[in-house]
Amino acid sequence: MMDRPAPARRARRGGEAAAPTRRATARGAGSAPKQARGPHPLLAIGIDIGGSGIKGAAVDLRTGAFASPRHRIRTPQPSTPVNVLPVVARIAEMVRQDVGRADLPVGVTFPAPILEGRTMSAANVDAAWIGYPADKALSNVLGVPAVLMNDGDAAGAAEMRFGAGRGHAGTVLLLTLGTGVGSALFVDGRLLPNTELGHVEIRGKDAEKRSAAVNRTTRRLTWRAWAALLDEHMHALDRLFWPDVIILGGGVSKNADRFLKYLTVRPPVIVAELRGDAGIVGAALVAARAARLHLPPVRRAPAASPAANVVEAEAPAEAEAPPEAAPAGAPTTPTPEAE
Ligand code: BGC
Repeated sequence: MMDRPAPARRARRGGEAAAPTRRATARGAGSAPKQARGPHPLLAIGIDIGGSGIKGAAVDLRTGAFASPRHRIRTPQPSTPVNVLPVVARIAEMVRQDVGRADLPVGVTFPAPILEGRTMSAANVDAAWIGYPADKALSNVLGVPAVLMNDGDAAGAAEMRFGAGRGHAGTVLLLTLGTGVGSALFVDGRLLPNTELGHVEIRGKDAEKRSAAVNRTTRRLTWRAWAALLDEHMHALDRLFWPDVIILGGGVSKNADRFLKYLTVRPPVIVAELRGDAGIVGAALVAARAARLHLPPVRRAPAASPAANVVEAEAPAEAEAPPEAAPAGAPTTPTPEAE
């Protein structure tokens, strides 16, 4: 294992909780990358498995900033465990090489509820994941006990510590808008895991089939038309949970000025600060907590362009990666909580 400090090449946001507002936050838009401070940055690796891409980076847990380039590889099709696991391993290896550390905790998100380390559904990935012991398989290919969590929960954990949720008590509902709609529900900073609020039924349909960001582009909807679908989804959730604030995340949140103005839902709506990177940051954060790393109070990180320093790579050839027993003591599904 090498022990040199990580060259921080990219960083974003951080900072205090934004006041509730329907306007997009300016944080996260273009400035210089931040250097990781000190000789031994407090790092963990986060890997975010999505229906279209698998992304990963090392994260400085003092700031929530990336401490390595963000690597992204297109999700192989079919997105079976056997195809996806080697991609996760490859991304982890690239990040380990970036930071010169092979000993970092690794957190992995997945777009499904996670029970006892198993992926329990497969709304936007191959059905082979249903009931699959993904934590064991991931631990096997990663060579360390992998910490597996729902992607919406991970994004929520990241926003509560480093982003738009900071300082928000009461009921906070975070929705991530992407291929599906992820959710994370917090009460006084404590997460109720696996909420799956993208799948409430609206007009006889699975809500995310209308309000996920991908539907705006595939159905060629105007921002206004798509916002009406999202608004209806949020009204339905408001009637059930009466949140104090709703945070909207996912890549589409960078275009918040295009659709926030059309929303009529009762609670204040604020825009996620970590945007599409919240899953990576949350995965690293939850892995660090599971590894019992001491997390000091959050330091502010300067913002940087979300598009900066993304390393795209081709998916490797298909490989067999059958799950085997996890390393002894492998954690399964810790609860990603806000602090
Ligand atoms: C899945 C959720 C996931 C969300 C966002 C939904 O289809 O059921 O578990 O959080 O997509 O990826």
